[in-house]
Amino acid sequence: MASSLEKALEDTEASLKALKVLTENSYDSILITDAIDGAKIIYANKAFKKLTGYDPEEVLGKTPKILQGPGTDKKEIARLAEALKNDSRFEGKAINYRKDGAPFLMQWRVLPVSVGLQTRFWVAIQREG
Ligand SMILES: Cc1cc2nc3c(=O)[nH]c(=O)nc-3n(C[C@H](O)[C@H](O)[C@H](O)COP(=O)(O)O)c2cc1C
Repeated sequence: MASSLEKALEDTEASLKALKVLTENSYDSILITDAIDGAKIIYANKAFKKLTGYDPEEVLGKTPKILQGPGTDKKEIARLAEALKNDSRFEGKAINYRKDGAPFLMQWRVLPVSVGLQTRFWVAIQREG
């Protein structure tokens, strides 16, 4: 039995299709930012809209900081900023705000996607914690 995604999805086109089905139908919110061009959001799935109230199209080009507000724990964000600086993964919780301003506890993981030696994208998996 195949034990890794590479082995299971040998064909590149089929792999992309499978990943697309997974992200579009995930119960968890998935966000991808560009690690090279100023942390801008380049992808958000449907569950992101359900969680935050923002349409994926309206957040493209913005940063996930739009989710933060007065109740967001600055220490947690500093810890995340440190992880980003070191190209390492992060897991945490903080108060975030939906589009309508309602606060909620965001629980999220941020992981680097490296191509060669460089972190090219950051992927976040988010849910209400
Ligand atoms: C992929 C990714 C997802 C992120 N998701 C969130 C999030 O859901 N909520 C949040 O408060 N910050 C999130 N952030 C953190 C902010 O975008 C930003 O990196 C953080 O506030 C540190 O920058 P600053 O020191 O300028 O505040 C995310 C960052 C990345 C790279």
